[in-house]
Amino acid sequence: MENFKIEVDGDGIALVTFDVPGRSMNTLTGKVIAEIGALVERIKTDAAIKGVVIASGKASGFCAGADLGELGGSAGAGGEDRRSEQEKLQAAFDGGFALNRAFRALETCGKPVATALEGLALGGGLEFALATHYRVAANNPRLQLGLPEAKVGLLPGAGGTQRLPRIMGAMNAAPYLLEGKSMTAQEALAKGVVGAVVEPGQTVAAAREWVKTGDPVAPWDKKDFKLPGGGPYSPTGGQVFIMGNAMLRKQSYGNYPAQLNILKCLYEGLQVPIDAALRIETRYFLKTMQSPQARGMIRTLFLSMQELGKGASRPAGYAPYDVKKVAVLGAGMMGAGIAYVQAQAGIETVLVDVSVEAAEKGKGYARTLVEKAVKRGKLTAEKGETLLGLIHPTADYADVKGSDLVVEAVFESRELKATVTKLAEAQLAETAVMGSNTSTLPITGLAEASVRPANFIGIHFFSPVDKMGLVEIIMGKQTSEETLAKSIDYVLKIRKTPIVVNDSRGFYTSRCFGTFIQEGLEMLAEGIAPAIIDNVGRATGMPRGPLEMNDDVALDLAYKVREQTKKDLGEQYVGGPVDALITRMVVDLERFGRKNGKGFYDYPADGSAKKIWPGLKDIVAVKTPDADPALIEEIRTRLLYRQAIEAARCFEEGVLTDPRDADVGAILGWGFAPWTGGPINLIDSGGTAGVVAKRGALTAKYGSRYAPNALLREMASKGETFYGRFGAGAKAAA
Ligand code: NAI
Repeated sequence: MENFKIEVDGDGIALVTFDVPGRSMNTLTGKVIAEIGALVERIKTDAAIKGVVIASGKASGFCAGADLGELGGSAGAGGEDRRSEQEKLQAAFDGGFALNRAFRALETCGKPVATALEGLALGGGLEFALATHYRVAANNPRLQLGLPEAKVGLLPGAGGTQRLPRIMGAMNAAPYLLEGKSMTAQEALAKGVVGAVVEPGQTVAAAREWVKTGDPVAPWDKKDFKLPGGGPYSPTGGQVFIMGNAMLRKQSYGNYPAQLNILKCLYEGLQVPIDAALRIETRYFLKTMQSPQARGMIRTLFLSMQELGKGASRPAGYAPYDVKKVAVLGAGMMGAGIAYVQAQAGIETVLVDVSVEAAEKGKGYARTLVEKAVKRGKLTAEKGETLLGLIHPTADYADVKGSDLVVEAVFESRELKATVTKLAEAQLAETAVMGSNTSTLPITGLAEASVRPANFIGIHFFSPVDKMGLVEIIMGKQTSEETLAKSIDYVLKIRKTPIVVNDSRGFYTSRCFGTFIQEGLEMLAEGIAPAIIDNVGRATGMPRGPLEMNDDVALDLAYKVREQTKKDLGEQYVGGPVDALITRMVVDLERFGRKNGKGFYDYPADGSAKKIWPGLKDIVAVKTPDADPALIEEIRTRLLYRQAIEAARCFEEGVLTDPRDADVGAILGWGFAPWTGGPINLIDSGGTAGVVAKRGALTAKYGSRYAPNALLREMASKGETFYGRFGAGAKAAA
């Protein structure tokens, strides 16, 4: 065996070390799965082995689960297949059941088996451990045990949906299965997932002690086994399944097959013996894995995220840029957040504002977050002090001297940005990077104020900076590849995911997100009832409906951006009924959105739930007060595809060059419906030809904003996909 090493001691206890060669973390590759079969055979037939302890040979933990690279590849595999439907189904089942079969054989091998968990066990890793008779975890604060499959659109299909509820009950297991929540060693002990928690380094010894007298029969293989909390037809079972179903529907709007199939696995599997239950689970696992949702989510939320997180977009050939000192200009909402995440990553931060008091106020934000973390035991007081010690508030631009990079985050004003760029650059070395966090002003224009435009770049953060994982890097016309490489090194150092785009009004994220809220406004102006617009908006899988989003972003801001765009575009600007609507709301009625408690909704001062403003119907007459399924489908399509078409236009204009940037940026940046795998994956999975045909009908009805651009039409005629034409594979071939 390549992945498992067996050493049998004098007591007949075999220590099995799980250690996939050449990897920093164990995963369940096809080879590993095959070897688990061989391993079980050896345990069963070797008379010298009386019991088994399984441990990891990796310092990083026990096992991170299935190899999603392999799984993602097989889920998307195409090609001609001459087998009959029956043969295909049988082969798919056999393949999908392989891991369940191997784990079940381990569980019923007749000898006691324990797992020693020094570090994380996730997904298939935890399922492996659950198929042994006993588990010991180390008292290590970083240890995580969990079944995160649902987060990438899959279900825990190696016994997870069956063994976890048989240990802790369906009610307790549901959040771990449906939300992919992980548990600490202590939580696992309290819920019966591990039998003991011992000091780090002691798990193998403790597991070995257990094996000496351990019971080789799983609780659910005993005649008197009772499901904790009762089965589906017990009083708590009723709650889990009736309430669970309703809650799931409310939260997911039926967009996520994985969660629905997990509930089905629980409901059906918990009524039958474990062997039948595991077969049921495999059937749902395969069904889930073949869904477009799972393929899209694995592609974007796992594979692409991982690749971008390793610097896939970084141009080769530049030495790593170690960013040690960074100046942040402007200690407002964004600057304060940026200073905090930099200090968290150990970067010395100069925080500049117009006065020391203003800069101190910005540092106060970091102080509040540190105090919270210390109170919750997530950070020691000492480490908190070190972090705060890295932030130096100042009003003196001389302190910028020696910075490797600058992030400008002053007010959104071209003139002010030009002034502070000059002040900062006067202090910088020729090699330093000058970044702007502007959300709307084109980078090429801002770079005109710079003496070194090749070093000037957009580094666009999202609010709140400490929670949002994305940074959109914007290349100006003159930005050099070296500056890009340095900026990516900076973004990776502060542990965010970078996407790279070219300059454009609103760059990529604001521009596409803008079409979503604009489409909601168009619908409102057409006379569709606001409640329908926002309810269907949420049901698409977007975090909120477009009108609520308008209120959150602020209507007066939308008004200002509109006025600026009008000025900038001159005669090219195409207005419409929405302009009059926004002007009426902002200028005449001073309804600015959530920030002044008055927008499309009213926000009661007592904090109670917002309600659609009754006066809205006097400004725009409701012509469509009810929604039939066809209208709902049309609204859904309009809201999602308006954004997707804009993303496709970004490819044509060269704003986007890599589908991974498009899809990861959309989901992380503005919460584009995660089940789609992102706007470009949405187009690809529907086929470019299908999308062009569908858009034709909408264009005829609503106008050119749905019109597929030339690139999309060309790709449709050739049967191309975006991932095929612009993906990593195509780039490597070029
Ligand atoms: P803010 O109004 O909270 O903060 C701006 C800060 O700049 C203020 O503290 C102000 O005193 C300071 N400032 C003004 N003149 C200065 C000078 N000469 N030197 C140093 N500091 C000076 O604004 P916010 O929201 O933090 O936005 C800052 C930038 O980030 C803007 O360009 C904005 O478009 C962009 N942005 C904002 C996002 C948001 O959600 N608010 C998201 C992404 C980017």
